[in-house]
Amino acid sequence: MPRTFDRQRQERAPLYEALEAYRAEANTPFHMPGHMQGRGAAPQLRQLMGKRALACDITQVLDMDDIHRPASYTKEAQELAAQYFGARQTWFLVNGSTCGNQAALLAALRPSGEVILPRCAHRSLQAGLILSGAYPIYASSPYDQEAGVSLPVELEELERLAKLHPQALAWAVTSVTPYGACAQMEGICQAAQSHGVPLLVDEAWGPHFGVIPQLPPSALEFGADCVVQSCHKLLGALSQGSMLHWQGEKLAPERLNLALRMLQSTSPSYLILASLDLARRQLALDGERDWLRTWKLALELRQWLNRQPGFRLLERGSAWDYDPTRIVISALPLGIDGVELERTLRYRFQIQAEMSDLANVVLVLTPAHGEREIELLQKALSTIASEPHGWISREGAAAPLRRVAQMGFPGFPQLLLTPRQAYFSPTRSLPWEEAFGLPCAELITPYPPGIPLICPGERLEREHWLYLRELQRVGIPLDGLSDPHLERVLVCA
Ligand SMILES: Cc1ncc(COP(=O)(O)O)c(C=O)c1O
Repeated sequence: MPRTFDRQRQERAPLYEALEAYRAEANTPFHMPGHMQGRGAAPQLRQLMGKRALACDITQVLDMDDIHRPASYTKEAQELAAQYFGARQTWFLVNGSTCGNQAALLAALRPSGEVILPRCAHRSLQAGLILSGAYPIYASSPYDQEAGVSLPVELEELERLAKLHPQALAWAVTSVTPYGACAQMEGICQAAQSHGVPLLVDEAWGPHFGVIPQLPPSALEFGADCVVQSCHKLLGALSQGSMLHWQGEKLAPERLNLALRMLQSTSPSYLILASLDLARRQLALDGERDWLRTWKLALELRQWLNRQPGFRLLERGSAWDYDPTRIVISALPLGIDGVELERTLRYRFQIQAEMSDLANVVLVLTPAHGEREIELLQKALSTIASEPHGWISREGAAAPLRRVAQMGFPGFPQLLLTPRQAYFSPTRSLPWEEAFGLPCAELITPYPPGIPLICPGERLEREHWLYLRELQRVGIPLDGLSDPHLERVLVCA
């Protein structure tokens, strides 16, 4: 369904306009930040950002409104965003969707209350569990063995868990994944509504959804109660700029407000806030034209990739929708793993992908791309495909990756303590060999894709340790390890 909004109203960008007006006042500043609108900034920073941007790097000053008590420009900017995205209320976030997910869980849950969510979720949801003290009921998500990619949670799995846990306080769903795979949101929203539970959707990778019919609709369109979007990931907002949208009656907006007051900085960056205002304006005014062009470019690139025997492209599944502008390529048919492909693109062709994993490289396409960038990419991929791949085996990178791929994903461990119990439990450090069977006190996340392999409170198993060692050996960064050599681990005492 096309979005309905007042185009004339959407031409305003009140936060940006207020910021520019403040800069034009040319005040003598005695306020934060300490560089005083650039005067005291390091020359390198002045060069990096430019005078004008530094002059706009301010936070709340007289009459500049406050994200924690919005009354004027921020209020109006957030209202415009709510109108455009189809929410009843929208909050601007200066700490990414990470903070939005944490706030949503903190607002909807309480200690020991149950929440149904995929185990395969971004670690910000784990943080939300620790903050709220809720008891997670983990839904399993399908795994595409061939593509080496976790898929979104399915409606049937949520329904199964809802029958077992009718008292759950909320459902939290990730749609869309960083790989562009979307859950069956229409059915999931209807099911959550019929169970009377608030539905929280991590739509970090989908702020452009619903702009054109060729892209999946936003979960807001189906009535999700709370939707978090990283505008910095796909739109023109500065890094960390995200939005939290709310609608419906099952979740009190005051609770979201309270949670965000705790989690957001009291000195938010007005550059980030203004960039959110402008990104919304740009999307409202030019989004249809821009994203249609991006979609066409993506389609042409997909068709081209499908004609290249050396590359495999992640396509829409039978049970899940996808974002056609997310390009997930595997060069395994050429004997090149995802990590090596990402490195080759970067260090030989100056092309930087969004991320890679054992099998794939993920490329993000937005209206910032034109034919030139696509041609450069195609040229690089053609060159890679035309070369003998001895240089990869010479470095010995492909063999262990294949071994890891063959090992397969070991599955998620059993929950012994809630993430919060584990987080606040006394801990001790043990050699891994002695820790099997005990609850882990660490949050261990291979990054990318940022999905925790072991969460606080989960039972440590030998197979996970072996898997982590293989990941480390092939160069996948492991976040959250107390001992980066994987010899010792913190357990709950
Ligand atoms: C699925 C998902 N949710 C949430 C986040 C966090 O978003 P942000 O980087 O805006 O904090 C990410 C980050 O990559 C993500 O992949």
